[in-house]
Amino acid sequence: MDDPGSMLERALAAARGAQAHAHAPYSRFRVGAALWTEDGRVYVGCNVESASFGLTLCAERAALAAYVADVAPEDRTAILGFAIVTDASKPTPPCGACRQWLVEWAPDAIVVAEGGLAGDGREVDAGGGGGSPPQDTSAAAPRSRWIVRDLIPDAFRGDDLDVG
Ligand code: THU
Repeated sequence: MDDPGSMLERALAAARGAQAHAHAPYSRFRVGAALWTEDGRVYVGCNVESASFGLTLCAERAALAAYVADVAPEDRTAILGFAIVTDASKPTPPCGACRQWLVEWAPDAIVVAEGGLAGDGREVDAGGGGGSPPQDTSAAAPRSRWIVRDLIPDAFRGDDLDVG
């Protein structure tokens, strides 16, 4: 396995690349995402909006779907992390629908979100429920990080479908 730090940087760069492909004519909020796996694979996604707004696909779910489609079940290794990039001044956490997808595939994975380039490395309060997550403000763009399971406690999972 590659060094976790370099996989994160690789995934963030890949997510930036995917963000450039975002189809966001309605919100103009462009999102790129990438996941990385234990065996060093990186898959990307971007948001794809629909004129029927509710049908919009988020970048995180697009990345996960790309991975699932490309890698046969017997070849899959653990998903270790997700990188999310936007142009917002503060890092944006995954939405509720994406949290559900993420927890079903990778409850222990790290999620790192990077905002737009602040330019001066200033600290930005990511806000959100439960207080601000720890931030790495040494980079030019503000980052926040979480563990998937902390983003969706008591999640509904496949084993909840057991009706006996
Ligand atoms: N979006 C994502 O791609 N991921 C998220 O987790 C939050 C929201 C997209 C959906 C929509 O195209 C735009 O951002 C504004 O909500």
